[in-house]
Amino acid sequence: CGIVGYIGGQEATPVILEGLKKLEYRGYDSAGIATLAGGGSGIRRSEGKLVNLERLLREQPLSGVIGIGHTRWATHGRPSEINAHPHKAGPVIVVHNGIIENYLSLREALKQSGHIFKSETDTEVISHLVEEKLKGTSDFVQAVQQALAELRGAYAVCILNEREPGTLIAAKLGSPMVVGLGEGEFFVASDIPAILAHTREMVFMEDGEMVVFRAGTVAFSTIAGAPLDKKARHIDWSPLMAEKGGYRHFMLKEIHEQPRAVRDTIAGRLLENEGDVYLEDLKFSDQQLAAVRRIVIVACGTSWHAALVGKFYIEGYCRIPVEIDIASEFRYRNPVIDGTTLVMVISQSGETADTLAALREAKSRGAMNMAICNVLDSSIAREAAGVIYTHAGPEIGVASTKAFVTQLTALYLFTIRLGRAVRAIDVPAGQSMIASLKKVPALLEEALKLNADTERIARKYMNARDFLYLGRGKNFPIALEGALKLKEISYIHAEGYPAGEMKHGPIALIDEEMPVVMLVPENSAFEKTLSNMEEVIARNGRVIALCSEGDQEVKGRAEDTIEIPRIDEDLDPFLLSVPLQLLAYHIAVLKGTDVDQPRNLAKSVTVE
Ligand code: G6P
Repeated sequence: CGIVGYIGGQEATPVILEGLKKLEYRGYDSAGIATLAGGGSGIRRSEGKLVNLERLLREQPLSGVIGIGHTRWATHGRPSEINAHPHKAGPVIVVHNGIIENYLSLREALKQSGHIFKSETDTEVISHLVEEKLKGTSDFVQAVQQALAELRGAYAVCILNEREPGTLIAAKLGSPMVVGLGEGEFFVASDIPAILAHTREMVFMEDGEMVVFRAGTVAFSTIAGAPLDKKARHIDWSPLMAEKGGYRHFMLKEIHEQPRAVRDTIAGRLLENEGDVYLEDLKFSDQQLAAVRRIVIVACGTSWHAALVGKFYIEGYCRIPVEIDIASEFRYRNPVIDGTTLVMVISQSGETADTLAALREAKSRGAMNMAICNVLDSSIAREAAGVIYTHAGPEIGVASTKAFVTQLTALYLFTIRLGRAVRAIDVPAGQSMIASLKKVPALLEEALKLNADTERIARKYMNARDFLYLGRGKNFPIALEGALKLKEISYIHAEGYPAGEMKHGPIALIDEEMPVVMLVPENSAFEKTLSNMEEVIARNGRVIALCSEGDQEVKGRAEDTIEIPRIDEDLDPFLLSVPLQLLAYHIAVLKGTDVDQPRNLAKSVTVE
């Protein structure tokens, strides 16, 4: 999750340790450091927090002026010292962020050629692969290039070689990496805050690039080896700004991280040939899943909205009835549950008291149970029989954004798995669902380009007293979520409603002052939702419509439109979420509220 590398004149260990501490807020479950000195290397790794690693380093110090360090958030292989980075194979030492998608096939091939693996991680294949390439060439850089060419997936890596004690190589594809230029010393890190205390001259690495540090020199190139002339930028951010990646608020940063977050949640889980997915911590056999007669999903807040979308996915594809409940309701209503019920709880933090109690209630009644969680080893993740982790990374803004879209991703992945297990989804259907899901990250990038449009609309409507959000089907929960985002951070009253239900009440509220956010992408409910929009217009309501790109019909009628990229309609909730988050964000900023820590709210509510 965090990477720090150093080469220069100082002792590397304290520099690296201090850098890793700056990234602690991101969460991790183990940590490690390696340095080169005296023709050999030293590695110290420990499970748990950095204090454990510090203790170890006090007992067994590591010297050397070149080194790499890592804090790990487990994806492949449980948190343990063995799975902690750095990983070493022969003379090659590696730390890595990201996920290597083809690690299983690479590992098999390397085992065939005699490599012995010590950990369960995808990272270890990188060290063995470089070691393997070093058999064919004595050129370290070339060996790294050849190895990286075979990796699929995402990575930011730092690599050392005991036989080249003056060289540090780093490369990036899909995971962030920044290089810091000092006086006769260099730093490399996954995030700016880790190295900001040492230098403000930073070079941002792009995908497909690598950098070779040798005492006093730095050389940038593509991974294929073409030299690059990269310019440093002077970063005058304060440490807090650096944590926010230069964005004004954590929320805005996290909104922009969504393509990456979804990509990471999918990564390493798709079995494209089988039209299936691999969910490493779910642990239910096909037989167990086939015995499920009913599913109850329980959550709070934004996670509950994700659950509402999940109902459409699971019922639609798997034909198994799904009930959704709010955790604080579920636990007090004597729910009907038995061993054929699967209770799924969804919680970003994994610590929400009501959700945890709901899980315990379900377990005490003998239900099968599982969780969708973002925080590793959180109470809920530990207590549930199976877990699907969302790989959103730490979410700091109280208003949930990237956690939400990764929860949708996890629900969609679960639907494929369950559908395959109960034979409701065949191979081609599974393959086509996977193909649709793979389009999401790039289309989220497109949706982020709506930022300027949304800001303009925010200015126009920021003084409204109330907002109504309307949508149908799987977009109704997105209307609820849009309204919740606005309430949470701008303190404007907002309500989400099923568009068809408007005539039974909220229609009385509509007048020339009332902004109504209509979710009308072109889908099977398009015509019906369009007529609801007409009902609003007929009463002089002010319609802000979120429609499909190029839709002339909606554009001609609504006062303002935001056009979202087209995708399989099942996945519209992902793309609609982005402009709704941005709309709430900009209105809140314009009103001058505390966006990241809105009044009265907590990120995780551990009281009942
Ligand atoms: C709090 C947060 C919400 C969150 C809810 C559930 O109310 O402010 O953003 O959706 O808790 O949290 P969880 O961690 O269980 O998903």
